[in-house]
Amino acid sequence: MDRFVIEGGHRLSGVVPISGAKNAVLPIMAASLIWPDRYILHNVPSLRDTLTMAHLLEIIGARVLFEHNRMEIDTTTCHNPEAPYELVKTMRASFYVLGPLVARFGRCRVSLPGGCNWGPRPVDLHLKAMELLGADVTLEEGYIVARGQLKGNTIDFDVSSVGATGNTLMAAVRAEGETVMTNAAREPEITALARFLQKMGARIDGIGTTTLRITGQNELHGTEEEIIPDRIEAATFLIAGAMAGDKVRIKGASEDHLTDILGKLEAAGAVVNRHEEAIEISRPSATLPVDVVTAPYPGYPTDLQAQWITFMTQAEGNSVVRDNIYMDRFAHVPELIRMGARIRLEGNKATIEGPAELIGAPVMSTDIRASASLVLAALVAGGTSEISRVYHLERGYENIEEKLTALGARIERVADDHRLQKG
Ligand code: EPZ
Repeated sequence: MDRFVIEGGHRLSGVVPISGAKNAVLPIMAASLIWPDRYILHNVPSLRDTLTMAHLLEIIGARVLFEHNRMEIDTTTCHNPEAPYELVKTMRASFYVLGPLVARFGRCRVSLPGGCNWGPRPVDLHLKAMELLGADVTLEEGYIVARGQLKGNTIDFDVSSVGATGNTLMAAVRAEGETVMTNAAREPEITALARFLQKMGARIDGIGTTTLRITGQNELHGTEEEIIPDRIEAATFLIAGAMAGDKVRIKGASEDHLTDILGKLEAAGAVVNRHEEAIEISRPSATLPVDVVTAPYPGYPTDLQAQWITFMTQAEGNSVVRDNIYMDRFAHVPELIRMGARIRLEGNKATIEGPAELIGAPVMSTDIRASASLVLAALVAGGTSEISRVYHLERGYENIEEKLTALGARIERVADDHRLQKG
């Protein structure tokens, strides 16, 4: 497993291009299963997770061609409505094939995802929605087996869930009659999925709101789509710019997906200039403490919670970060403390005492965004840091070492090649 060696203390400047959004392309890839046809996707990020999803589509029988950020999917040859445990356990988003497979085949067998590195991540809302749409859902040896012809219904989500909204939407477009979803997630990635389904011929009203109305269709068809830019990648680089930047330019992001984080960065004193093609950010002379509470979109994203904690270690004063989406998503905190951060955890609330001088150290990645927070810390730490298990980063950040190197960071990939050590 490779690791990154980062020498801290270098100012960042220059342009960083933003890639396509991981959390938009994964459900869109799954949606191609709903109707047998050919689909062409542009601006697809080359990530571990997109390769994993492509592999899952091939296991189900699709043909996938993926090169130079362009993906062709042919689902006319699908024959095996199954998602095996060996694959689902490596990427929870595999569960997105549940809705499409029931919609297409009237039956499927999808491994129940396990927990993830920061704790349980239930799928009860997905299963309840499938049952409300008329599917018979059972758990058989760790697999969700769902079968039945889908009929429209009203689905009121107790909790705003991105995944459950996506799965339900993809099932409802083929359910007979009308489906109404309330308290649906309205993250930009769900809006992108809904627009993709519309381009396939689906009838969806209320896109961008928390109430979606779907009229099931008997016929759909293939289509072509450009994947939206990744707002979490963009915001991660914005935070890097606020910590160590001198006119870092984030190119290709959708500014209207970044309203909350941009407001927070400016409140912390970061110098933000909006240009036609790019958002430019520089670190302030003094960073001000700014509290954050995560919430469903358009609130502050939980996927930026770890990165904000790292940023606040540099603030002139104390701040509080509370994660109300995932109460236990703090595996990055002990690692940051090992680098000199002063953070107190009480349940889902982290109190960060700033400013703290960070010192490079060997640290371990545990999930995509925790890894990103360790990279941010290493960029400003004195000395050198070693971040192990960089495959977590590769799941969600395309070409991250090239992008950081182009900004002036000193980052080197070291392969943990045991064979050499044995020789
Ligand atoms: C999506 O995960 C994202 N993943 C996550 O990003 C992101 O952190 C999360 O949404 C929240 O924004 C993808 O889009 C592939 P949820 P998802 O269902 O769909 C509870 C990353 O780093 N819940 O919106 O799994 C759940 O426990 C990843 O890119 C239920 O209780 O998240 C949580 O508290 C990490 N029952 C809340 O809802 C359910 O059936 C939101 O989860 C489903 C969810």
